[in-house]
Amino acid sequence: MRERTLIIIKPDGVERGYADQILDRFKEKGFTIVERRDMTISRALAEKHYAEHKGKPFYPSLVDYITSGPVVVAILEGENGIAEARALMGPTDPQKAPPGTIRGDFGESIDRNTIHGSDSPESARREIALFFGEDEA
Ligand code: RTP
Ligand code: MG
Repeated sequence: MRERTLIIIKPDGVERGYADQILDRFKEKGFTIVERRDMTISRALAEKHYAEHKGKPFYPSLVDYITSGPVVVAILEGENGIAEARALMGPTDPQKAPPGTIRGDFGESIDRNTIHGSDSPESARREIALFFGEDEA
C-alpha cells in the first residue's frame, strides 16, 4: 500500500548542503515527493511537533535545535512508506546506524542526526496536518 510520511531534514543536514542528495535517495527507492517546504520552524510549531517528548531530559535542547536554522520538510509517498523511510534513515543514534543509511552516512550525533521521519500512521497523519494542513494528511 502506498503510504504518506513526513520527513524533516534537520538543521545539520541543510547547513552542510545534504538536503537534495537525501531527497534523491528517497526518489531512487521509488518515493514521490508530494510536497517540499524550505523553512525555519517556529518554537510554537516545534513544541507541537515534539509534544510526545515534553518532560524528557532532552526535550529543551531538541526544541532549541530544530528551531536553530533552516530545515526542509517534505511529504513523501511510497510503498510501505512509513517503515521504508525509517529503514532508509537508520537508527536514532548515528553511532549505531550502519553505513548506507542516512544517519549512518550523514549523522553527527544523537542530537544532530540529520533527519526526522514519522514513526507510525497516526504520527504521519498528525505531522502532515501540522505542517501542510488536514487536506494532505
Ligand atoms: P525523530 O523523531 O527525530 O525522527 O527521531 P526518532 O523517532 O528516531 O527518535 P525519538 O525517540 O522520536 O527522539 C526524537 C529526537 O530526540 C533526540 N533524542 N535524544 N539523548 C537522548 O537520549 C535522545 N533521545 C532522542 C534525537 O535527536 C531524536 O531524533
Ligand atoms: Mg520520533
